Amino acid sequence: MDTLHGMKRTHYCGQLSEANIGQTVTVMGWVDVYRNLGSLIFVDLRDRYGIIQLSFDTDIDSEIFEKAATLRNEFVVAASGEVVKRSAPNPKLPTGTIEIKVSELRILSKAETPPFEIKAETDVKDELRLKYRYLDLRRSPMQKNIEMRHKIAKIARDFYDENGFLEIETPMLTKSTPEGARDYLVPSRVHHGKFYALPQSPQQYKQLLMLAGMDRYFQIVKCFRDEDLRADRQPEFTQIDLEMSFVEIDDVISINEQMIARVFKEALGIEVQTPFLRMPYQEAMERFGSDKPDTRFGLELVNISELVKDCGFGVFSGAIANGGSVRAINVKGGADKLSRKELDSLGEFVKTYRAKGLAWMVREEAGVRSPIAKFFKEEELETIFKKTQAEAGDTLLFVADQDNVVFDALGALRCEVARRLDLIDKNKFNLLWVTEFPLLEYSEEEDRYVAKHHPFTAPMDEDLALLDTEPGKVRAKAYDIILNGCELGGGSIRIFNSELQEKMFEVLGFTKEEAWERFGHLMEAFKYGTPPHGGMAYGLDRFVMLLCGADSIREVIAFPKVQNASDLMMNAPDVVDDKQLKELGIAISRESKE
Ligand code: AMO
Ligand code: AMP
Repeated sequence: MDTLHGMKRTHYCGQLSEANIGQTVTVMGWVDVYRNLGSLIFVDLRDRYGIIQLSFDTDIDSEIFEKAATLRNEFVVAASGEVVKRSAPNPKLPTGTIEIKVSELRILSKAETPPFEIKAETDVKDELRLKYRYLDLRRSPMQKNIEMRHKIAKIARDFYDENGFLEIETPMLTKSTPEGARDYLVPSRVHHGKFYALPQSPQQYKQLLMLAGMDRYFQIVKCFRDEDLRADRQPEFTQIDLEMSFVEIDDVISINEQMIARVFKEALGIEVQTPFLRMPYQEAMERFGSDKPDTRFGLELVNISELVKDCGFGVFSGAIANGGSVRAINVKGGADKLSRKELDSLGEFVKTYRAKGLAWMVREEAGVRSPIAKFFKEEELETIFKKTQAEAGDTLLFVADQDNVVFDALGALRCEVARRLDLIDKNKFNLLWVTEFPLLEYSEEEDRYVAKHHPFTAPMDEDLALLDTEPGKVRAKAYDIILNGCELGGGSIRIFNSELQEKMFEVLGFTKEEAWERFGHLMEAFKYGTPPHGGMAYGLDRFVMLLCGADSIREVIAFPKVQNASDLMMNAPDVVDDKQLKELGIAISRESKE
């Protein structure tokens, strides 16, 4: 095998152009395509910047030609030669009008046939891609995603730096910070039986940094949450995290709109209009059935409870009698677009969101087609059509249940219908803030209120009195930034006095002792002069995913984990030596071993 031995790269493959014709250049990279035509060999050489064709001619140098004949895909080579115009240009390649006539060739590394072909489009199973992630990352779309990730992080970092934010690192080995997920724990060797928690976010540290007088903090930081994976969730992910002192909601929102606008401009060349739309939580739920509404298409929810509360269809009237509601979406022209089979499958779809069924009506030129039409009087149908603005040819889809189920089911259904009917303009980037979230959420499972955001979020001043009487009605000084129906980030103005913080823990069902044991460090700190403060955090992975048009954050993370939280390439998690366990004072139960 050859070595570089003094050979220096002069150009990247993808950066050569007709301007280089006549120059002798040296490029290095991987063999992308190899073609041997007998007396001519052509090789597409690939690096991060693109592809250049190398040509070898047996008449010009038979020794180099013989060497070139041993090349195979993914061999790593260095080649020097003159850049010349190509006799048969390849319009598909940016460098397609030129090639290098190779006068020196070194084979730096051979390669076995890779388990899958390294090409832009791939239908290889994710498991295989992730096991050989270093090969998958050679593919051009992955290289672009990783580059975009770098770009976005850099733009954000530069922006916050220019605006007086200090990047301050916070510990990874720490105590549980509740963000609503399970903690990853790290056993202590020194303190047997005790555990560090990996941070779900730097939330408490950044608040303490405001107490410390740092004024403005940011950090691009790993966070760890042991929760079920989805397309937009990984057990370890990256936040762009920030906190500001002496601010109210508008201050945090306005500087972050500037940051987002900068990212769009510099990463995509797109101007986004500021200020962004702000929508109170309640409105988002009523209109879109979701606190992260995708506003790129219509299909808004219409509440028809008032119209059907006394109707003859027991499913509808019963739901309302039980304190629930009946809501509909109008699929314009649905008569032609949604077949009976399609409607049945949408019925199955809403069941995954706990709805008991999906009722439908197709308005026709004269009358209506629907399995439930018989339960309604003529006038009732008319009022429903009027309220939902249903015209001939439209299909109405209804769910009746408790509000939370109706919102969940129809919120998901409108997105599903939009996807199936191709109603989403992929070139649109719709940004909006959702505000006035409820402070608390009742957890049936735990039989107590839990924080909707996290327990450090401040209630809205005008709702403070409700904290004792109707905690469920208290709104929070919290805000989420939504991009195309995805929660890009979120944050809040914080509680900054220990009495209110203590009160909040009480509402959450902690005894005073428990609260002090877990969060005493914060409440104690609040006693020594606390600036009002607030901030937010973005999911960097989601930001990059959306700007790359990827459909999972796995596509924008160099080394992501699979569904069951394992790293297939490194084979983690893995068993450890008995010696290590012993040092930690840990014994693995027999059942776990099996
Ligand atoms: P929150 O829990 O909303 O807020 O997280 C902020 C953002 O992080 C992203 N995110 C995730 N991305 C990938 N995988 C995950 N498992 C995951 N979980 C969250 C989302 C989310 O909007 N400390 C607060 C912020 C604050 O109040 O300042 C926090 O962590 O994009
Ligand atoms: P059934 O009377 O149960 O046969 O239901 C008649 C129609 O109403 C079917 O199309 C069901 O899918 C639909 N349906 C049943 N429960 C609900 C519900 N909670 N909300 C909306 N539609 C429902």
